[in-house]
Amino acid sequence: MDITTVLKKEKLNKEDIVFLLGRTAQDELDQLYSAAYAVKKEWVGNVDYYRGLLEFSNRCIKNCCYCGIRRGNTEVERFDTPKEDIVAMARWCYEQQYGSVTLQSGERQDPAFIDYIEELLREIKKIGGGALGITLCVGEQTKETYRRWYDAGAHRYLLRIESSNPKLYATLHPQDGHHRWEVRKACLDSLAEIGYQVGTGVMIGLPGQTLEDLAEDVLFYQKQNIAMIGMGPYVAHHNTPLGKKVCEDGLDTPKARAERLRSSVNMVAVTRLFLKDVNIAATTAMQTLHPFGREMALKAGANILMPLVTLPQFRTQYQLYDNKPCLEDGKEECRNCLSSRVASVGDTVGWGQWGDSPHYFNNLK
Ligand code: 5AD
Ligand code: SF4
Repeated sequence: MDITTVLKKEKLNKEDIVFLLGRTAQDELDQLYSAAYAVKKEWVGNVDYYRGLLEFSNRCIKNCCYCGIRRGNTEVERFDTPKEDIVAMARWCYEQQYGSVTLQSGERQDPAFIDYIEELLREIKKIGGGALGITLCVGEQTKETYRRWYDAGAHRYLLRIESSNPKLYATLHPQDGHHRWEVRKACLDSLAEIGYQVGTGVMIGLPGQTLEDLAEDVLFYQKQNIAMIGMGPYVAHHNTPLGKKVCEDGLDTPKARAERLRSSVNMVAVTRLFLKDVNIAATTAMQTLHPFGREMALKAGANILMPLVTLPQFRTQYQLYDNKPCLEDGKEECRNCLSSRVASVGDTVGWGQWGDSPHYFNNLK
């Protein structure tokens, strides 16, 4: 196979996707990324949108083997952000013309949490007469809960499938009946049925993950008719079962980390080439593995940035993985830093716009 020929194809098949994901030579990568950037320009424009990211609580009932705020990590001090503070942060995002906010926390399913989110959504919705787009990212819930939150004003929901391969998923989660791939998948279906713009994504460079798996992930996005994609490299966290194992097995070397970053940028590029009109995030995890990781993602087809708005005193307590960047920065610094990153790749910022995924409206299959 030859990359120039593959990139000229009207429609990529699974074999092409595997081939593109596996490219490592710099000249081939340059071709891949510039083809993906051209598709981004044509289908979604070289305008990048901001979602102010509010990580408002690190309490979580789950125990995912890779995650630093898993229930079993007793080193972490748990926090909740008072509702007034969250609303004030959302108002700040509105004033900064961020266009939309993402509310993220660990997973909880108790009635108090469900009510809290519902009230919070109604409060945020009042800002600017409903001017802010709201994305929720608070885990697996019943369809009824998803509907209540939709009715209260959330219109986008992020829930990563982590891997479209149920066997690989099982190796990343405790087998206690509370971490089931089928449930995660059913949640994605419920969200779509209710009318949310649905986002999902995977971690890249997981132990045991193959290029085939990653190609299946891209096909999964298509099959689920996903509008928004957030994915990034797996990054070890020292006090998690998976992080410890990866370190013990000698799989967390600088070389391995560089490979995980390259695979992640390749995934962004291939996803852009294959799905064309979806929103794709340049995630913080990319920047964790390389100072210019987010720029690389933007140049390879990503069009969404999520500046941290989380209160500085809570940032260190919301570490899903080690070496998370921006812990010392305030929300103003995150705003300015990301704006210069956008300008450095030749894009502009879609200030004050929701920046909905055109896919949701084009509904291309
Ligand atoms: N490395 C990279 N991503 C992680 N996430 C959780 N832990 C890690 C990690 N160690 C991601 C998962 C989850 C999202 C909120 O963060 O994909 O869905
Ligand atoms: Fe909880 Fe999400 Fe971390 Fe899993 S990945 S432990 S659900 S915060």
